[in-house]
Amino acid sequence: MTSAAVLIVDDEKGVRSSLQGILEDAGFAAEAVVSGEDALEAVRRNEFPVVLLDIWLPGMDGMETLGRIRQISPETLVIMISGHGSIETAVRATRLGAFDFIEKPLSLEKTLLAVGNAMQQYRLQGENLRLRRELERQYVMIGDSVPMQALRQQIAFAAPTNGRVLIRGENGTGKELVARLIHLNSLRRSGAFVEMNCAAIPEDLIESELFGHVKGAFTGATENKEGKFARADGGTLFLDEVGDMSSKTQAKVLRVLEEQQFSPVGSNASLKVDVRIIASTNKDLEYEMETGGFREDLYYRLNVLPFQIPPLRERIEDIPLLTGHFLEEFSRRYGRKPPDLTRKAREILESYPWPGNVRELKNIMERIAIMMQQPRIDIYDLPEAILNRTMAAAKTEVSLFEIPSLHEAKEKFEKEFILRKLIEYKGGISRTAQALGIERSNLYRKIRQLDIPYSGRDGGENGSLPDIS
Ligand SMILES: Nc1ncnc2c1ncn2[C@@H]1O[C@H](COP(=O)(O)OP(=O)(O)OP(=O)(O)O)[C@@H](O)[C@H]1O
Ligand SMILES: [Mg+2]
Repeated sequence: MTSAAVLIVDDEKGVRSSLQGILEDAGFAAEAVVSGEDALEAVRRNEFPVVLLDIWLPGMDGMETLGRIRQISPETLVIMISGHGSIETAVRATRLGAFDFIEKPLSLEKTLLAVGNAMQQYRLQGENLRLRRELERQYVMIGDSVPMQALRQQIAFAAPTNGRVLIRGENGTGKELVARLIHLNSLRRSGAFVEMNCAAIPEDLIESELFGHVKGAFTGATENKEGKFARADGGTLFLDEVGDMSSKTQAKVLRVLEEQQFSPVGSNASLKVDVRIIASTNKDLEYEMETGGFREDLYYRLNVLPFQIPPLRERIEDIPLLTGHFLEEFSRRYGRKPPDLTRKAREILESYPWPGNVRELKNIMERIAIMMQQPRIDIYDLPEAILNRTMAAAKTEVSLFEIPSLHEAKEKFEKEFILRKLIEYKGGISRTAQALGIERSNLYRKIRQLDIPYSGRDGGENGSLPDIS
């Protein structure tokens, strides 16, 4: 079945065939049907960017057909055709969602112009949708662990309220992502999401950043400038790293929160704004309050809806999901097939403590997607930072000399030594064996005896090593 671009709906044979001829001559594909019922059948079956629909039809009339087409295929653009041009009908059709209106007798030019406009609108709609999807992809939250499920619930509850939110969590746990999701799921989603990094802006500029300034307010203020509070009007202001604000700025922000209004620097005007505040920090604010680093009154103003994002090491079930998600995303972006991870490599990722949390994992997966050409990622393909940490964790606390037997001390030493060399040579058996001055078969035996992480030929899926006999 071929898909036609324009669907013509008219009960008059002459109109159908002349429209079809005009459109085809102009380079559009066109299909014609005789009734509203047939039109619905056609839009169910195929995607039509544009429908030319006669108002006067036997059976289901044009208006009703229009309404039904809008339900079946909301992205289709409908142009109404009428023999009795009346303003009221046109208005009614527009209310029902018609894109345009042309009158009989049909003029060639007007018809082609209307269809051309509708086609362009259809393309723009598609482009917009694609861009929005692309944007929304950036803000998906991956993770099925219990804390992540709870976090998702909490976002759903908090988003539609106007309550102030304070998000806490270590570096890279997803504080900004959660802030954006709250905004995107709120009634303010069509307003702006304005970000303000309180740690990154010098103390003497922060006031002008937040509240704006008027021309001549200070040296260098050559123009009026709108501040972040004004830009976030009707939307959300995200105060990132709020624990790093100076005490002077804290006092200023507190005043805005209390009075719901502010004055730009150098102005007496008092501006009223409707802004929802979401703040975030990785600092221990309770400790900061005790030691005078953070105002208690501001803390209670901000902390109406508290969010706590747990570090990645406390939700290791999420690691495989996140790993798969990022590998897929970045592989798509760099135009390659996502690589697999061997079982042992996955185990190592799950045992790593991830001090940089999701951001660290994301960066590593991007690097793998760019740098590694092989379809399968094994232990020794992982970054050294991870392998070294794994190795350090495997090391004994006590010094070798405190180990009672020579045999045990020797084993410990051997294990660490071989592991180091394996990391250095990226798991290459021949090169590692050569560097150690032993036979390959001997190295395989040691790996097995000393329980050194290694995948072997099958990628460790069966936990076995290659034949060494
Ligand atoms: N659960 C998740 N699913 C998918 N992506 C995530 C998740 N958590 C975080 N990310 C991504 O990891 C990166 C770091 O997240 P984000 O910037 O929100 O963290 P943060 O807590 O604000 O970090 P920092 O404290 O360093 O500012 C972002 O690219 C974010 O999209
Ligand atoms: Mg952040």
